[in-house]
Amino acid sequence: MRLLYEGKAKILYDVGDNKCLVYFKDTATAFDATKKAIVEGKGVLNNTISSILFKLLEEKGIKTHFIKRVSDREMLVWKAKRLDLEVVVRNIAAGSLCKRLGLKEGEKLREPLVEFFYKKDELHDPLICQEHIFMLGIADKKTLSQIRKTAKKVNHILKNFFRAHCLLLVDFKLEFGILPDGSLAVVDEISPDTCRLWDIKTGEKLDKDRFRFDLGDLIEGYKRVLEKIQS
Ligand code: TMP
Ligand code: ASP
Repeated sequence: MRLLYEGKAKILYDVGDNKCLVYFKDTATAFDATKKAIVEGKGVLNNTISSILFKLLEEKGIKTHFIKRVSDREMLVWKAKRLDLEVVVRNIAAGSLCKRLGLKEGEKLREPLVEFFYKKDELHDPLICQEHIFMLGIADKKTLSQIRKTAKKVNHILKNFFRAHCLLLVDFKLEFGILPDGSLAVVDEISPDTCRLWDIKTGEKLDKDRFRFDLGDLIEGYKRVLEKIQS
């Protein structure tokens, strides 16, 4: 097993045969890791939730890097060349959208909004437009159009799934990669670290905003997300 990359929340190992092992850590970071903590149990919850969501997407015909969950903290995935792009889909105004455009948190958007951020820590992941994406050589026209289409499809699937489990999908972030066969796939993770999820009845925030803004116990929120999607 060869260490490929250690990120803020995960470690990636090359296990050969075009496969990688993702290890989910217990570290939580926010605001470019200026806020950091060890949150015991987060890695197990994110691996479990992410595995459920990747499996759901695969069943609905979305190509992802997911192969299987192999242990509490580990997931086996296809090796992919990750694009330096964070694709955010929003259904309800929150977070940086409110800050940037002066919208009120909780406002329903006319239609799902897709935004692109350049994944570059030293630049603080700036918002970019499609011309920037072409200029930087991150993706060509055809690939970007496929990314946009897939992101909207994923939103549709996840929104309906969460709604059926009494959760409101406010927004989420996806990452994409190119698999060894050249095809585009959703990679990274899909978890309460990368989604905003509110309790449909009470509006309570159950995601990483609890950590970002000290709104309550992170693990309690993530456990409730898992319990709901398993019910
Ligand atoms: P934002 O409102 O802060 O731009 O976040 C939009 C969505 O993206 C939200 O669901 C949280 C997720 N996200 C990440 O997964 N990683 C990040 O580094 C940031 C800033 C947001
Ligand atoms: N994951 C990002 C960081 O650690 C920010 C965030 O999720 O809010 O900086």
